[in-house]
Amino acid sequence: MKGNYLVLGASSGLGKNVSENLLSEGFSVVGIGRSAQKLQAISSQQKTNSFHTESFNVDNFDDCLEFLTAIAKKFGPFEGIFNSLGQERFKALKMIKNKDIELAFNPIIFSTLAILKLSFKKEFLKERGSIVVMSSVSSQSGKSGMALYASARGALESLVKNAAHELASQGKRINAVRAGAVETEMHERLTSNLSGSQLQDYESNHLLGFGKPEDITHVVRFLLDEKSSWITGSTINVDGGFLA
Ligand SMILES: NC(=O)c1ccc[n+]([C@@H]2O[C@H](COP(=O)([O-])OP(=O)(O)OC[C@H]3O[C@@H](n4cnc5c(N)ncnc54)[C@H](OP(=O)(O)O)[C@@H]3O)[C@@H](O)[C@H]2O)c1
Repeated sequence: MKGNYLVLGASSGLGKNVSENLLSEGFSVVGIGRSAQKLQAISSQQKTNSFHTESFNVDNFDDCLEFLTAIAKKFGPFEGIFNSLGQERFKALKMIKNKDIELAFNPIIFSTLAILKLSFKKEFLKERGSIVVMSSVSSQSGKSGMALYASARGALESLVKNAAHELASQGKRINAVRAGAVETEMHERLTSNLSGSQLQDYESNHLLGFGKPEDITHVVRFLLDEKSSWITGSTINVDGGFLA
């Protein structure tokens, strides 16, 4: 029996692609997303019955902790965890409201903190287990309208660096992938109202053009694997040269 992984954000985009990749190689995956319908649709396309799904909306740290504790009891422990959940929230600072701040920060920070808190238990994350989280080039490059989204990713990267110190005492690891624009459902929503020339400009900021979900999946798989056992606390650029 191959390993067992937990993927948050498995109902769409990067989390979906990593889940499908793991399943195709014979691993078991517990996939979390908000939409039970989307998870069910992905599940029904799998040739394996190793994909277990649960829907959950992360908006509160304690509830998330309770939910993940129950998930570990039912399906755990896990070899590795990929946290890809998150939502776009692009707004000029003068327009922001409490709800925007909550949506930009709470899901990714609360879920990552809940994962981290539980990861010291071997019933949740196995010995030498690895956690990978998704960040964005926006943490390193300022742009109007991006302050909330970008600073939430900056906070996440800082969390990765600090958490690595505490996890290392148990031989466990955490790293982040700092992605440029990748063609997912989120990317489609973000670019759908750009004009042709705006889209071209955006793509040309990436030396190698927009990425495909697989471009991220390869690196996530490496970071989840023992092959990367000497890497922790790092945020790795996978951005088609955006930050070059
Ligand atoms: N795509 C890019 O270009 C890109 C670049 C850099 C960084 N990133 C980051 O990578 C992550 C994944 O992006 P993506 O493109 O794969 O996005 P996506 O296609 O929109 O997928 C996001 C996933 O997160 C889940 N989710 C969102 N809010 C949630 C909440 N409050 N509770 C539980 N689940 C929640 C969604 O669930 P439902 O679909 O079921 O609602 C979905 O499974 C995000 O954090 C994003 O910021 C993406």
